[in-house]
Amino acid sequence: MNDKTRYQIMKNRQLLAGYNLSDVGAEKTDQEQNLPPLPPLKKKQGRGTIALPSDFENLNLMTEIRTVFAQRESCRKYSSSPVSLLELSFFLWSAQGVRRMAGRSLNPVTFRNVPSAGARHPLETYLFPNNVAGLDKGIYHYLPGEHQLEILEKRSDYEEELTEALCGQSFAANAPVVFVMSAIPYRTEWRYGLKSAKYILLDAGHACENLYLAATAASCGCCAIGAYDQDLLDELLGFLPGPSAEKTYECSVYIAAVGKLSKKPES
Ligand SMILES: Cc1cc2nc3c(=O)[nH]c(=O)nc-3n(C[C@H](O)[C@H](O)[C@H](O)COP(=O)(O)O)c2cc1C
Repeated sequence: MNDKTRYQIMKNRQLLAGYNLSDVGAEKTDQEQNLPPLPPLKKKQGRGTIALPSDFENLNLMTEIRTVFAQRESCRKYSSSPVSLLELSFFLWSAQGVRRMAGRSLNPVTFRNVPSAGARHPLETYLFPNNVAGLDKGIYHYLPGEHQLEILEKRSDYEEELTEALCGQSFAANAPVVFVMSAIPYRTEWRYGLKSAKYILLDAGHACENLYLAATAASCGCCAIGAYDQDLLDELLGFLPGPSAEKTYECSVYIAAVGKLSKKPES
């Protein structure tokens, strides 16, 4: 290992260990300096919205939690049957759905189906549906406050770019629906400063695990994807190149492929 790599690995370990703040010269966080936070929900930016159904009682879900845990596994082969809009809606709600809002008007806070450090909820969810009943191919953004999807781009020619962005993992790029979780780091940095990167990634882990469990309960399969090309995926989603110091800076952090289970056994 050369010195540059060793140095970077040590820096990454500092992040994992939450930093010894006296070593890195801790300063007051933006919250402690009474600076305004970012809103917890991104404003609508798309061309149109699609309401998501919420009659989850009509899904034939596994309800025995031990069975759900026992059957959860990464699935890389999906059936040609489409994911229904109700199933997709359930997956989004499980991974990022908002249960209630609280806080004062200058600092509104969302409480969701997943935990998040300080309830800062820095994550956003984007979708590439390849086989979802009633959804055209395109790039969509989930609006958790309204439980709606907004259409960012109606295009069906992203297969090659998405496959390249997912480091050639075509099973994932062609999955019935590809979830991309992004983070707006400042939502968390406002309160937690240097510890934020660690917390944001922990938050993404919770969201993805809920997605795995929701997919399993609905007899679907899910596969987490961490191997991806940061620049290519961020460009495909229209994020500005980064990392940048902008408070609104956003970058992808985690991907998940989801689809109906294939009858064929995994190879
Ligand atoms: C952070 C993370 C990143 C992962 N990245 C990939 C990936 O890029 N491609 C892939 O096929 N599987 C990926 N996986 C799935 C793992 O390979 C899988 O969880 C592991 O082999 C254990 O299998 P299981 O999930 O069926 O228990 C990832 C899992 C995690 C938690």
